[in-house]
Amino acid sequence: EKLKIGVIVGSNSKASINLQLAHGLVNLAKDKADFEFLDLSALPFYNRDSDADSYPAAFTAFKDKVRSKNGILLVTPEHNRSVPAYLKNALDGASRPYGASAWSGIPAGVIGTSPGGPGTAMAQQHLRNILVFLDMPAMAQPEGFIRWTEGLVDAQGQVAAASRDFLSSYMDKFLAWVALHQKK
Ligand code: FNR
Repeated sequence: EKLKIGVIVGSNSKASINLQLAHGLVNLAKDKADFEFLDLSALPFYNRDSDADSYPAAFTAFKDKVRSKNGILLVTPEHNRSVPAYLKNALDGASRPYGASAWSGIPAGVIGTSPGGPGTAMAQQHLRNILVFLDMPAMAQPEGFIRWTEGLVDAQGQVAAASRDFLSSYMDKFLAWVALHQKK
């Protein structure tokens, strides 16, 4: 049976380069696991006041999707040297109500792209801090600080030849990391 991987993209832009990167990564590994994009766009802005009796149905459905996965791949932009609020909202909302987090124990991969040289490195380090508290074991190496250049992923979702070996190997190691962290 193939591993089930949820892919979360931390951008709500239709033209997102991180969404494009995510498609490229999935295409490189689609024969090795079952991938599903977990859409954040239906999630409302989380408010703890709803925990007691009006926790949003969209978050309940999202949490069920998260829990159905063997691993989560987080592909995120960097906003002002940190995690985009769009992604943080999903992480926060699905960690609640207290004691009912969807995230606990699910192995994760962290990767992202930006046109700038650091390639989302600082956002990813902030994200790792969050994942520690959420009790999600995150693959440490290889890191995926990807500088976006035009054509890195083409319109068909294919990764440019020059980046294919690195990104394929990233995905192989991520899937091995996920397999290693399954509870028997
Ligand atoms: C950015 N961008 C950006 N880039 C970066 O490398 N470091 C940063 O700190 C920031 N900060 C930032 C803040 C905000 C509010 C926006 C909208 C953008 C630029 C960013 O990398 C670029 O817009 C990417 O295209 C964002 O990724 P998506 O949304 O295309 O996936």
